[in-house]
Amino acid sequence: MVKMKQIGLFYGKNTVKTATIAKKIQEAFGEAKVDLIAIEEAWQKDFEAYNFLIVGASTWFDGELPSYWDEIIPVLSTLDLKNKKVAIFGLGDQMNYPDNFVDGIGLLAKAFESAGAKLTGFTSTEGYQFSQSQAVKGDQFTGLAIDVENQPEKTEQRISDWVEKLKKEFQ
Ligand SMILES: Cc1cc2nc3c(=O)[nH]c(=O)nc-3n(C[C@H](O)[C@H](O)[C@H](O)COP(=O)(O)O)c2cc1C
Repeated sequence: MVKMKQIGLFYGKNTVKTATIAKKIQEAFGEAKVDLIAIEEAWQKDFEAYNFLIVGASTWFDGELPSYWDEIIPVLSTLDLKNKKVAIFGLGDQMNYPDNFVDGIGLLAKAFESAGAKLTGFTSTEGYQFSQSQAVKGDQFTGLAIDVENQPEKTEQRISDWVEKLKKEFQ
């Protein structure tokens, strides 16, 4: 079981769709309390304060992270996130950006792994159509991919399946 007050969800509040998905993930956890932290207001110690981190970002500019995450990435490498589990979600548009679909997940994965964190919450690439993604390892995404532009009807189920998985993996 997930213990109370152990999960911090970090997202960019200026990326509106990502912020909406962040709140849905928080709600899906129900009783297990998840703190929502806007990275625009986060300090290094906030990342270090939680045992379990959920981090979310959309992909912009053909395969890059939106502003603020790109500023935080260099800071992450100076943190000690050993023994922490990190689950990543990302928003992207597989139709218009098939060569960079949810690349942001992959960029966050690389950054958190190099800070010593253990990645969790991988999901199948089945049900998506794209050519290339930095988020893919083998036949899985290194996190949860959400496409509100092309597959809005799948969002709710994807979130609830992922959160159920995280409830088991976050321990
Ligand atoms: C200028 C621009 C560039 C984008 N580049 C990518 C991309 O490289 N890969 C991708 O999967 N999605 C890309 N997208 C799609 C966004 O990630 C998607 O619309 C997402 O839902 C936006 O969420 P946000 O409002 O939280 O930023 C791009 C969107 C825009 C407007």
